[in-house]
Amino acid sequence: MTNLATAKTISNPVFDVDAIRREFPILSQTINGKPLVYLDNGASSQKPLAVLDAMDRYYRESHSNVHRGAHTLGDRATSAFEGARETVRAFLNAKSTRQVIWTRGTTEAINVIANGLAGKLKAGDEILVSHMEHHANIVPWQMVAERTGAKVIPIHVTTAGEIDMESFDSLLGERTRILAITHVSNVLGTVNPVEELIRKARSHNVITVIDGAQAVPHFKPDVQALDCDFYTFSSHKLFGPTGIGVLYGREELLEAMPPYQGGGEMIERVTFERTTWNILPYKFEAGTPAIAEAVGLGAAIDYLDSLDRTGFEAAEKALLERANRLVETVPGMEVIGTASNKVPVLSFKIAGLHPSDIGTLLDQQGIEIRTGNHCAMPLMDLYGVPGTARASFAFYNTLEEVDQLFAALQKIQRLFV
Ligand code: ALA
Repeated sequence: MTNLATAKTISNPVFDVDAIRREFPILSQTINGKPLVYLDNGASSQKPLAVLDAMDRYYRESHSNVHRGAHTLGDRATSAFEGARETVRAFLNAKSTRQVIWTRGTTEAINVIANGLAGKLKAGDEILVSHMEHHANIVPWQMVAERTGAKVIPIHVTTAGEIDMESFDSLLGERTRILAITHVSNVLGTVNPVEELIRKARSHNVITVIDGAQAVPHFKPDVQALDCDFYTFSSHKLFGPTGIGVLYGREELLEAMPPYQGGGEMIERVTFERTTWNILPYKFEAGTPAIAEAVGLGAAIDYLDSLDRTGFEAAEKALLERANRLVETVPGMEVIGTASNKVPVLSFKIAGLHPSDIGTLLDQQGIEIRTGNHCAMPLMDLYGVPGTARASFAFYNTLEEVDQLFAALQKIQRLFV
């Protein structure tokens, strides 16, 4: 067994992780008497001071409703809110802010899209998803399929946790209308070859919907280069606040889609005889939006933009490599998801231990991971497991924390199996 004490920590000179951790106040606490090791970033990531300060400052100095008041605070709030939309546009490399719609998160964004595309579907049409989708990219399509008579068909996933391209090629056909697929698997960490999938889908005139929730914390998507029709993500996984997410869409498709909810803001003119819709993006934004949260998301993106991306990606790669190397130090440990292109996510099981017990025992050591089905029951069924334990890393995690995780797992295995 490798002695962890002798495993030398590699320091990354361009990426000062200690300085970065000082920007995340929540990380410097103890949990159950031990220094917190936060490895549940796939569920939700922590927030830098830049985000906390921006939201605090917004409420202290600029809060009012947006697009409404003919007063100074209304103007300040509107410009902070629309400024954040522009920040998201640049982050995605979208052509226009008209294509950036605020939602409550990825789940709501996919529901808006599924609902909006329902009118294009009829009995016998097919919606391709993959076997590794989060429930948020399965259930909204099933609901629409129920209404329209369309079918939801899963693309097979290999044992390593990669999209089976032969399965995709054989399923993509005359009846396919929509391809809804995750950019990165929340369970496996697999980075899917979405460029290739989108290219093939578009050559069959298939509408493409990409769930970017687990991708954006690790790399920047370029929606024009991807050439996707829709891209969705949540702020809270991108080091921003909860309660806000983004729906990017191709403009002509958004124009053709009906609104999702009715109310104030999404209308142009209301009479009892006839109501007309507001222009994009407001047509999809009924009611008072999550203004401070938009400001917080904008601040999170600005903060990420201030970091050295090359150092960031190298640091994440080093975390995954270190974790992969240490797997053999825990008898009976098996990784689920061994794709060649992965973000730093490690789903695993340990023979003789239930995943939820692993989670509880790690928590006693101050180490926070997620256990269970990860909102991906069909994938659990495919692997024949009730759930997994999952350590999901972010750029602020350290190699020492990887070592602490494995030291704790070694101990748990020794004492409880
Ligand atoms: N979808 C989130 C996760 O994977 C909640 O944990």
